[in-house]
Amino acid sequence: GTPDSDLMFIGEGPGYQEDHQGKVFVGRAGQLLNRILETMLDRDRSRVYITNIVKCHPMKDPSNPEKRGNDRPPTDEEVLKCSPILTEQIRIIKPLVICALGGPSARYFLKTDRGINSLRGKVYEINPVPQEPEYSVKLVPTYHPAYLLRNPSAKKLTWEDIKIVMKIIGLKTG
Ligand code: URA
Repeated sequence: GTPDSDLMFIGEGPGYQEDHQGKVFVGRAGQLLNRILETMLDRDRSRVYITNIVKCHPMKDPSNPEKRGNDRPPTDEEVLKCSPILTEQIRIIKPLVICALGGPSARYFLKTDRGINSLRGKVYEINPVPQEPEYSVKLVPTYHPAYLLRNPSAKKLTWEDIKIVMKIIGLKTG
């Protein structure tokens, strides 16, 4: 994405495909995220920046990066270690809205251990850059696209969350 994006999507961390291609959200979950973006933005990606809370591929078995099905969510320690990079990305981009994809991302911003089911569906005002306490951003948590692949019935609620995001950045929801 471009540094003047007003919307950031923040996922968990790279998976196998992302690790091998050096790009975010290029695997199956990424293809679903693309479809969401196409519906949302009518192909105009200039307003969107996509990244992850952790920058390395969290693996169940790090000795075998070629193994499939080796992905796992990042640990709290990994999230904390990578957080200065994410904070710097947010400091530079200064989006109006952050859409947190999935529990680990939502919990990182909200400093909670609650699950995504109870966090989504609302807008939170947060201060994500400790060095700039006067900067606040609207956080909209929703389900991770990988979760939607396993639980397609959650797509309806995700679309409700996406409509909240669209309203904040001034897009018509139809
Ligand atoms: N899942 C994520 O959280 N991020 C990616 O980049 C790909 C899959």
